[in-house]
Amino acid sequence: MNKSDQFWDRKAEAYAKSAISDEDSYQRKLAETQKYFTPEMQILEFGCGTGATAVQHAPHVKHIDAIDISGKMLEIGRSRAGEACMKNITFSQNTLEGFQAEAESMDAVLGLNVIHLITDRKSVLDEVARILKPGGIFVSSTGCLGNSYLRFIKFLVPLGKRLDLMPDIFILSEEQLTEEIRAAGFKIETQWHHGIDNVDLFIIARKI
Ligand SMILES: C[S@@+](CC[C@H](N)C(=O)[O-])C[C@H]1O[C@@H](n2cnc3c(N)ncnc32)[C@H](O)[C@@H]1O
Repeated sequence: MNKSDQFWDRKAEAYAKSAISDEDSYQRKLAETQKYFTPEMQILEFGCGTGATAVQHAPHVKHIDAIDISGKMLEIGRSRAGEACMKNITFSQNTLEGFQAEAESMDAVLGLNVIHLITDRKSVLDEVARILKPGGIFVSSTGCLGNSYLRFIKFLVPLGKRLDLMPDIFILSEEQLTEEIRAAGFKIETQWHHGIDNVDLFIIARKI
C-alpha cells in the first residue's frame, strides 16, 4: 500500500456519502457518454472510486472492468453494484498500468476525476491508447486548475496532505491536458467545462 491508497481508503466512506456537486453536469456527462455505448461494448474505468458511475453505465454495455488503487473504495463499489443487481462489473484493485489489459481490447476507457491525481500522466494516456480498439473512446473529467485562481491551491497541498485533508494534486491547464491527450493519439470530439471557475474539464476523445 502506498500513501495515496491509504488516503483514499480513509476517505472512502465519506466520499460515498458526499453529494454530487453539480447534478446537471453529472447527468449531462452520463448522457453524452452513453450516446457512444452499445450493448456489446467492453469498458474499463480507472480510478472508479465507489463505482457510482460504473453502476449507471453498466446497463448500457456488455462489461465494465472497474479498477481503483483503494480497496475500501472498491468494497463500497462492490456492494453498490450488488444492491443495483449489476453483475457485469468486475472490480479490481490496481492502477491502469498494473492492470495490463490486452492491447486493443477495450471499446471505451473512462478516467473520471482522477487524471489530476496521477504522477505519470504520459504513461497513463499512452496506456489508454494502447488498450483501446482503433476508434475507441476515452472519456475523462479532470480538475484543470492551471489558468484559474484556484491554481494557488498548490501552496496549500503540502499542509493539506499533512492534515490528511488533500491528496497530491497536480496543477495542469486545459491546454496542457488537451495537448497531452492529442499527443497520445486522440482526436477530441467533446470538450466543455463546469464547476467553480470552470475548472472541471469534460472530454470525450476518439483514438485515431
Ligand atoms: C476523486 S476520486 C474519483 C472517483 C470516481 N472516479 C468519481 O468520479 O467519483 C479519485 C479516485 O481515484 C483513485 N486513484 C487515485 N490515483 C489512482 C491511480 N493512480 N490509479 C487508479 N486509481 C487511482 C482513488 O483511490 C479514488 O478512488
